Amino acid sequence: LSKHLIAPSVLAADFAKLYDDIIMVNNSQADWFHIDIMDGVFVPNISFGFPVMQAIAKHATKPLDVHLMIVDPDRYLQVCKDSGAEVITVHYEACTHLHRTLAAIKELGCKAGVALNPHTPVSVLADIIQDIDLVCIMSVNPGFGGQKFIQYTYEKVRQLRALAAGRNDSLLIEIDGGVGSANAGALLAAGADVLVAGSFVFASEDPTATIATLKAVDPQ
Ligand code: DX5
Ligand code: ZN
Repeated sequence: LSKHLIAPSVLAADFAKLYDDIIMVNNSQADWFHIDIMDGVFVPNISFGFPVMQAIAKHATKPLDVHLMIVDPDRYLQVCKDSGAEVITVHYEACTHLHRTLAAIKELGCKAGVALNPHTPVSVLADIIQDIDLVCIMSVNPGFGGQKFIQYTYEKVRQLRALAAGRNDSLLIEIDGGVGSANAGALLAAGADVLVAGSFVFASEDPTATIATLKAVDPQ
């Protein structure tokens, strides 16, 4: 069995039958639920907020991996935790005092993640890499599902793995956007640990089987 994690993105689920999709993920080989929260300011879209996340948490039997695409995330860390988050990921570009924000997330008992937009180099994390549990490398511009995977992501994964070597060897590298069978193996070979997949899973004929396929991918 492979050690990488699969995190289906609920953003791509059918919100009119969200309960069924949650149960599907519960019964699949998925490891986490990826929860995309948007504010219409940090990204040009609005997804859903904490009341919906609470409803998901009520039925989910796997950890909620929450991706906050919002400005000033410090204001929402407590409600995020109270809504069922196990991993809270904030955007590097949205945090003026990232060190303080990460400490606040850990203080709540959550794993602390940092997401990087496609244009943000991994080198910005050089002085804080030891304080991060997870880095989410955005392989599309955040805000929408179903976008085309940016090829330069592989290079960023390799650079980040090198940056973390010896200073944070348990760092989880997550890839978010345009992930599917076409790039999963190469992402794992580059050093990725967590694959987020939205449309590739939920737009497929058999989402449970698609999750199993992603879970079975070998690094290549
Ligand atoms: C994009 C979100 C992603 C999105 C991925 O802003 O952060 O998590 O749901 O969707 P796909 O896998 O369809 O690119
Ligand atoms: Zn996301």
